[in-house]
Amino acid sequence: MSRFADQLAFLLLLLVSVSFSPVRCLGNGGASGKERTLAMIKPDGVSGNYTDEIKRIIVEAGFDIFKEMLTQLDKETASAFYEEHSSRSFFPHLVTYMTSGPVFVMVLDKRNAVSDWRALIGPTDAQKAKISHPHSIRALCGKDSQRNCAHGSDSTSSAEREIKFFFKDVNSGDIASQHDEL
Ligand SMILES: *[C@@H]1O[C@H](CO)[C@@H](O)[C@H](O)[C@H]1NC(C)=O
Repeated sequence: MSRFADQLAFLLLLLVSVSFSPVRCLGNGGASGKERTLAMIKPDGVSGNYTDEIKRIIVEAGFDIFKEMLTQLDKETASAFYEEHSSRSFFPHLVTYMTSGPVFVMVLDKRNAVSDWRALIGPTDAQKAKISHPHSIRALCGKDSQRNCAHGSDSTSSAEREIKFFFKDVNSGDIASQHDEL
C-alpha cells in the first residue's frame, strides 16, 4: 500500500514537473503562450491599396493588431533594419525598394504569432506563392521575390529586435502583463 502511494506520489511529481517545464516559457510569449511579431506591408502593398484588405485578413486569422503605424523609411533606417543583409549584392536594390514609398508596420499578437504570420504571408517568392499558396498574402499582392509586399519576423528573437526597432515603447516579452496595464 505504501509502495503504491510512493509510486503515485512519484507519478504526480513527474506530471507536475512536466507541465511546469521551462520549455513552455521559452519564446517571447511568457506564461500566456501568446507571442508578438512584427508585420510590415511593404511599399508596393501600401501603394497598391492593399492595407485595408491585409488588415482584414489579419484579424480574420485571429491576430490582434496591438500597434500600427504608417511610416516612410529613409535610406539610413531601411539600411539599419536590413543590417544583416548589408554585405549582399541585392542590398542597395532592397534599400531603394523599401524607401520607394510608405510602409505600414504592425505589432501582431497571437499564440504562435511568428510562425502563423509567416504562414499567412506565404513563400518569399510571390510568383511561386501564386502557384503553391494561392490564398497567401504574397500571392494576393506580391510581384516577385523582392517586391513581395509583406514582411514577417523570422524568429522570436528577430521579432523582439524588429518590434523594438519601430516601437521603442513596446515590450515584446510578456504580453499578459502588458494587457493587464491596458
Ligand atoms: C482600396 O481598397 C478598398 C478595399 O480594401 C476598396 O474599397 C477601395 O475602393 C480601394 N480604393 C482604390 C482607389 O482602389
